[in-house]
Amino acid sequence: MIFTNLISLFVTVVAVVATPIQPQQLDVISPAITSPNATARWTLGSTQRVVWETSKIPPSFATNRGMLVLGHLSTYTDSEGEQRVSENLNYTHPLASGFQIGAGSYDVVVPLDAPPRKDYIIVLFGDSGNRSPTFEIRK
Ligand SMILES: *[C@@H]1O[C@H](CO)[C@@H](O)[C@H](O)[C@H]1NC(C)=O
Ligand SMILES: *[C@@H]1O[C@H](CO)[C@@H](O)[C@H](O)[C@H]1NC(C)=O
Repeated sequence: MIFTNLISLFVTVVAVVATPIQPQQLDVISPAITSPNATARWTLGSTQRVVWETSKIPPSFATNRGMLVLGHLSTYTDSEGEQRVSENLNYTHPLASGFQIGAGSYDVVVPLDAPPRKDYIIVLFGDSGNRSPTFEIRK
């Protein structure tokens, strides 16, 4: 009995891991974020609307779930001496998730504990991950 359960658990795990990639996920679409733009200045605790283009989103993709993540840009030098850009994305606390990509906008609350800086970005996931221009969050 226990053995059978273990086998069925194993089969379940394998099934989850081995689920083929959905054809939808192979479509790379790039809905550009139009808000915030480079002149945006968000204050801590305020509610702000993130807006992205929907005109090129295929209908089959529109119901896919998206996620909005806050980050900021920094540069570093990798082991080969190349200058790289890090997005410092805060994956552990997404600003929003579970909305439909086809919605074209979503309201988020600026975290009260976000350190003020002028190089924040927002990345929209659901396809390839598009980032906004850098913008400011201030007190
Ligand atoms: C940036 O966003 C603001 C607020 O939505 C808008 O008024 C302004 O026209 C935008 N600027 C550009 C260059 O798109
Ligand atoms: C991620 O966001 C949460 C909520 O704003 C914040 O408390 C935490 O410090 C952030 N983590 C990083 C690494 O910025």
